[in-house]
Amino acid sequence: MAYLGIDIGTSGCKALVLSKSGDILATHTTTYDYARPQFGWTEQDPQLWIEGARASVGKVLQTVPADQIEAVGLSGQMHGFTPVDAAGRVVRPALLWNDQRNAAEAADIVALAGGRDALLGMTNNDMLTGYTAGKILWMQRHEAKAFDTVAHALNPKDYLRFVMTGEYATEVSDASGTGLFDVRRREWSADLLALLPFDAGLLPECHESDVVSGQISSAGAALFGLRPGTPVIGGGGDSVIQSLGTSVVRPGALQTTIGTGGILAAALTSPADNPEGRLQVFCNVAPDLWHCMGVSLNAGASLSWLARLLGTGEDYAALVARAAEVPVGAEGLVFLPYLNGERCPYPDPNARGAFVGLTGRHDARHMTRALMEGIVFAFYDIYQLMNRMGIEKSLIKASGGGARSDVWRQMQADVFDCPVVTTVGAAEGGAFGAALLTGVASGAWSDVAEAALICRDLSQLDPNPATGATYRQAFGVYAGLYPVLKPSFDAIQTYEAGA
Ligand code: XUL
Repeated sequence: MAYLGIDIGTSGCKALVLSKSGDILATHTTTYDYARPQFGWTEQDPQLWIEGARASVGKVLQTVPADQIEAVGLSGQMHGFTPVDAAGRVVRPALLWNDQRNAAEAADIVALAGGRDALLGMTNNDMLTGYTAGKILWMQRHEAKAFDTVAHALNPKDYLRFVMTGEYATEVSDASGTGLFDVRRREWSADLLALLPFDAGLLPECHESDVVSGQISSAGAALFGLRPGTPVIGGGGDSVIQSLGTSVVRPGALQTTIGTGGILAAALTSPADNPEGRLQVFCNVAPDLWHCMGVSLNAGASLSWLARLLGTGEDYAALVARAAEVPVGAEGLVFLPYLNGERCPYPDPNARGAFVGLTGRHDARHMTRALMEGIVFAFYDIYQLMNRMGIEKSLIKASGGGARSDVWRQMQADVFDCPVVTTVGAAEGGAFGAALLTGVASGAWSDVAEAALICRDLSQLDPNPATGATYRQAFGVYAGLYPVLKPSFDAIQTYEAGA
């Protein structure tokens, strides 16, 4: 018997089958895109997720037949808002995690809660722009007629769960990312919900991540080719469950993920206070575990933007190889990766990207190198906040598509001055973590720590102190830029909004 993990990502849906002995038996990804109707707005038609999941699951079932699948686990992009009516129909395209249109609503929720400290007392999280709650309020205000028909507010993977099982349910890690969840008590924050203008009944029932939430229905079986009655476990938000997939399940190692966004994460054994609410302190996928992360919104997204601009298509490997031809520090070129606003360490929808220090000597290679360094500097900027919470850097476990590049991993080792390892399964993202957790829920491993032993190290890069010194000088410049440019970003936003 084997475990099926399905991840509803931003750029595609991955299905992965894991054996009881921890071997990846089959994997398939179906890609799709998202819409950017205006600067800062990101949307996706949930049907893309369903079709993507059907294609990917169908493909892996050609290798591992459905009667071999013991249980299914779901992972997905977090903070999304999928509005569904009482008949289970999607009311409008989903608003995604990186959608920045709800800054005013997020600020109003903080005010309704009685201020940031009061909100942190209820949820241990600030209401960052992009969290689901602000999107619900945005739709209530701006699309009131359609909003009146909304009966369920679901995260992306939980919409897939509904289509597969007929159930409206979520689990603690994704619930944390709505901004409406008391992560200390691991339940919806009744105190906060009582202060907000929308109905708490919109939110689904919430389980722990490692329990069975329902079974594949006969309609779900017909759509996905799975056995009716196959258990579906809670699963997790991608950024959280992916830390299980890199074996970051105890304090000690940091995890970096370079996907569309960039994530720096650590495991916590208690819901440590979130200073100023600038980090995300969420429930982890085991009942005795929490998760701390900072998310930079445009990591891989920045590289794909530059690749498009340079006309190199998706040939990132060639692009990166050429970037490695230029010296550390890109001959004085520094990149700020705020192409679609930023979340951490600066929660600022107005923030914009920048290349600073351009000269006539610089070419596409320098721009690529500076861009990659800028993403690592964004991680190091987030780390400064985590370090204030007592989180240390002794080892980095790299994951996501960006971990495939040894140039990018070496940058991380040098900037952080600690070894960077890759582990079995880490490149597979949330689908691998979801399959591992499904194994835990099915009794193959006694807990997440035992499951994580499967993620043995594949490679290690050690820091180079000489380049580290150059990087840290460049980081000093990088870290000084946002505060200086902030008034310009706001001014641009003002005249753009008036245009
Ligand atoms: C996590 C986050 C992203 C999304 C998309 O807080 O915003 O990682 O989950 O993958």
